[in-house]
Amino acid sequence: MIPQSFIQDLLGRVDIVDVVDRHVKLKRAGANYVACCPFHSEKSPSFTVSPTKQFYHCFGCGAHGTAVGFLMEYSAMGFVEAVKELAQSVGMQVPETRSEPEGRKAGGGVDLYEVLLQAAQFYRSRLKESPRAIAYLKDRGLSGDIAKRFGIGYAPDGWQNLAAAFSDYDGPLLGTAGLVKSNEEGRRYDVFRDRIMFPIVDVRGNVIGFGGRVLGDGEPKYLNSPETPVFEKGRELYGLYQARRAIRDAGRVVVVEGYMDVVALAQHGIEYAAATLGTATTPLHVQKLLRQSEEIVFCFDGDEAGRRAAWRALEGSLPQLQDGKQVKFLFLPEGEDPDSYVRRNGREALEALFGQAAPLSKFLIDSLAGRVDLGTAEGRARFLHDAKPLLKQMQANLLRVQLLRELGEKCRLSPDEVAQLCELAPKSAAPRPPGPRYARAAPTPLARALLRVLIANPSLAAQITAEQRALLDAAELAPVAELIDLLREGAVASPAVLIEATRESPHAALFQQVAGETLAGSDDEQSAQADWEGAFLQLELVRVRSEYQRLTAGGALNEAERKRFQELSRRLAELKGAASAAARPEA
Ligand code: CTP
Ligand code: MN
Repeated sequence: MIPQSFIQDLLGRVDIVDVVDRHVKLKRAGANYVACCPFHSEKSPSFTVSPTKQFYHCFGCGAHGTAVGFLMEYSAMGFVEAVKELAQSVGMQVPETRSEPEGRKAGGGVDLYEVLLQAAQFYRSRLKESPRAIAYLKDRGLSGDIAKRFGIGYAPDGWQNLAAAFSDYDGPLLGTAGLVKSNEEGRRYDVFRDRIMFPIVDVRGNVIGFGGRVLGDGEPKYLNSPETPVFEKGRELYGLYQARRAIRDAGRVVVVEGYMDVVALAQHGIEYAAATLGTATTPLHVQKLLRQSEEIVFCFDGDEAGRRAAWRALEGSLPQLQDGKQVKFLFLPEGEDPDSYVRRNGREALEALFGQAAPLSKFLIDSLAGRVDLGTAEGRARFLHDAKPLLKQMQANLLRVQLLRELGEKCRLSPDEVAQLCELAPKSAAPRPPGPRYARAAPTPLARALLRVLIANPSLAAQITAEQRALLDAAELAPVAELIDLLREGAVASPAVLIEATRESPHAALFQQVAGETLAGSDDEQSAQADWEGAFLQLELVRVRSEYQRLTAGGALNEAERKRFQELSRRLAELKGAASAAARPEA
């Protein structure tokens, strides 16, 4: 956990306009800045960044957030990563805390990153000195530019070459980084020897590990860094860092199996490819990819191993599928991989194949159907049996409905029967939004209005009276109450800070949405004050009226009740007068 106070300081220090402008060129438009939205395709700019509120909102697709949120969305970073990146950009140090998702444990993360970077530089410099390694890369069709783009290097033959690059060759860091091992006598030696080195880079551009390929036919063909505190294979994809921009431009990311595939595709102008790291595709991989693009094409070899890898990718994708996003599968002709295919047939031929890739649903159904004889009852039963665990992993989305229909046709059942036999939750159930699992009253228009005024004018929270605060205790006003309490605790200076402070709140989505809406409105303080008072009048009116009605419905009044009744009538008249005066346009 990064302390909230740090996030506040950070958001006070960075300027979202700079942060966004580094990735998307902004143009001034009145008080705000605009650009064509990087999160959906559009011709005229509806993506708006507010320097005063320190957040962005797209009036086209509804994307919105703070500088932290922008980096998370745009660069597919996690929250911690995004905070670190921002902190780095303004020279702040994120306080180290207990359990970090990135697991900067043994050895200290920053040092590990430095060691790995230094090793990458060392390998690169050695490549320049090895005609044999250069010839190997040339022979595989790679130019110097591409080698540079991917930071490709060479680990020379010999047991302790890294000792030349690290004064502390025997210290613990090199071992933790996976660069050296010790033999039985405790003598250190380099893990990577006489190999072409592919640095693996995370979304922030840090080197986190290496893949090393033999130059000839030795075994193993590829040697990969072990998992370390900064390198987890189930999360990382080779080449994703370099591919980011191209993925956005193409609206597609292609996932291949090998380092050489990524590099060869880039060499031929297909820059939107990334590779899993000798492991199966995980849901985390898919999540990361779907944050960056609308379409994933898994491109695998046409052999048995390729089919198996594709099936694992399908399984990894199911829990992550969203309507409007596409996951597709392409199998290359037997004996080809993307590297050999693009070299033989060129970019256009391969991109044409990407365009014809099979949608996930087709791959799923064809694969299941291929295992059984659908002409028999037993075959159809088995087909359904195999489909069940897969369907259960899918959210109840539109695609699942379609899939149920198609599966039903194959095994002669109605979609509803398929759903029932597979024990699926009713198809109308929308996926549960993240957050605590308790029922929430929908915010009323009044609650939204209060939120809007409050987010645009946080100082209003300070002037709230105890009676006014009590008016907010109704369930449908809970978001307003939460925000006011937070603001009154102090230190929430800007809307951006507020958004980050409520990231974990059950009302986070609502806060962000309303914050986005405030970008469109005017920021007139006077009218804010009037709106604010008007809203509380309204609230009190509702409360007084309902008490009044309760009293008058109960028959004869006792002394105390009668007194209260008079009070209420008077207040009601006042309130009605005030409300209608507020509603009257000024002359
Ligand atoms: N791989 C690995 N260890 C191996 C073989 C393969 O980790 N011994 C992983 C690597 O990530 C490799 C990928 O699986 O990039 C694909 O392997 P393969 O198809 O055998 O290699 P290619 O990418 O085709 O490599 P090349 O073209 O250099 O032969
Ligand atoms: Mn290959």
